[in-house]
Amino acid sequence: MRRRMRFHWLVMGVVALVVVHCVTPLPLPTPPHVQRAQERWEFADSTFLAEARVLYSKNCGGCHRAYPPWEFSLKTWVKEFPEMVEEAKTDSAIAARIWIYILTFQDTTRIPPAIAVPLPRK
Ligand code: HEC
Repeated sequence: MRRRMRFHWLVMGVVALVVVHCVTPLPLPTPPHVQRAQERWEFADSTFLAEARVLYSKNCGGCHRAYPPWEFSLKTWVKEFPEMVEEAKTDSAIAARIWIYILTFQDTTRIPPAIAVPLPRK
């Protein structure tokens, strides 16, 4: 009986780990994010950013988690992104959308990182 209980905890622990690993907490755009994006890309409205978020998760969340943009410096992104676009084999239109999402959320000094809404993979 006691062994069974322990086994339950083990199973629940493993399930929790898998869930935490697979559900990518990428934030949805808030009005300040949209405003920031549109300062540089007029077309980047909230729908655009929300779609870019899904593209990012789908194209970049397969081999590793789709890293929240603020986890790396802008310098690291500039270095890594072109290599990763090759890894992901995306076309340049999709890559450009993903890049806009990353740039919009990378700098959290003016806008807090927003509420991370879990996005189920695929
Ligand atoms: C085919 C597998 C694969 C895909 C798809 C992929 N990556 Fe990667 N990524 C890797 C591997 C392997 C590394 C670690 C080695 C390296 O840095 O080159 C990595 C590293 C990174 C890093 C650096 C992490 C660190 O700790 O320094 C970033 C940032 C990154 N990827 C972003 C992306 C983005 C953005 C995309 C989508 C465009 C993407 N990745 C798609 C395999 C992949």
